[in-house]
Amino acid sequence: MTPQQAERALVDYFLWLDRNPDGVTDSLKVTNCFHLLRSVIADDVPGDVVELGCYQGRTSVMLSLTNTALSGGRGMSLYDSFEGLPALSSEDEPTNGQGMYQEGQLAAPMAAVQSMLYNYTGQYPAIWPKCSGVTLHPGWVEDTLHRQLPARISFAYVDLDLYGPIKHALAAMYERLSTGAIVLLDDWDYVRLPGVMQAVGEFLADKPESVQRLPCPYQAYFVKL
Ligand SMILES: C[S@@+](CC[C@H](N)C(=O)[O-])C[C@H]1O[C@@H](n2cnc3c(N)ncnc32)[C@H](O)[C@@H]1O
Repeated sequence: MTPQQAERALVDYFLWLDRNPDGVTDSLKVTNCFHLLRSVIADDVPGDVVELGCYQGRTSVMLSLTNTALSGGRGMSLYDSFEGLPALSSEDEPTNGQGMYQEGQLAAPMAAVQSMLYNYTGQYPAIWPKCSGVTLHPGWVEDTLHRQLPARISFAYVDLDLYGPIKHALAAMYERLSTGAIVLLDDWDYVRLPGVMQAVGEFLADKPESVQRLPCPYQAYFVKL
């Protein structure tokens, strides 16, 4: 796929997202990913792109198309249990009595992500495990990240929903983030997932970075200093 083809495919893909809502990832969230990834590519921040919690691959497709359309040339790694959420902890319990998420919720087979990438980017043939710069890493992030994260990271989308996995992911990633790397955080200030803000707040408490809220529901980011 050429950069020009990827550019056209991006427009079609945004339209497709609006026509096919899944209640998890909408075109507004994906638009934030697009702009933030574009800015690290424009600023030439070195390192790969990672998505921690890729679920069905809706954001992964956009990250891959953007990387191609903007000639980012970065490797891309996707991480997910493909078994849904792990057990929740007390930090994940909503204080307002709203229903908790459940262990096993949001499970999607790895084949779903592979076929999304294949259908929309044409760059991921139905073979495992690696092609055209996109690598899938099935398993719990607590088991995979330390050994399987790229050495340098320029952009990370952290969408793991829960306190424990997010705290673990930030610790595993932090030293690998290039200066200027962007870490986009999903479910920021989302009342049903209070563990997200708590995990990030605790992790950054003794670090120089601070979180910027985005002008859309439930997303925020920080830049590695
Ligand atoms: C909200 S979904 C991600 C949505 C996706 N980023 C998108 O844009 O469509 C959260 C994902 O995190 C995964 N997840 C949560 N905790 C995990 C853990 N400890 N290890 C691996 N995957 C985990 C779940 O399996 C689920 O697919």
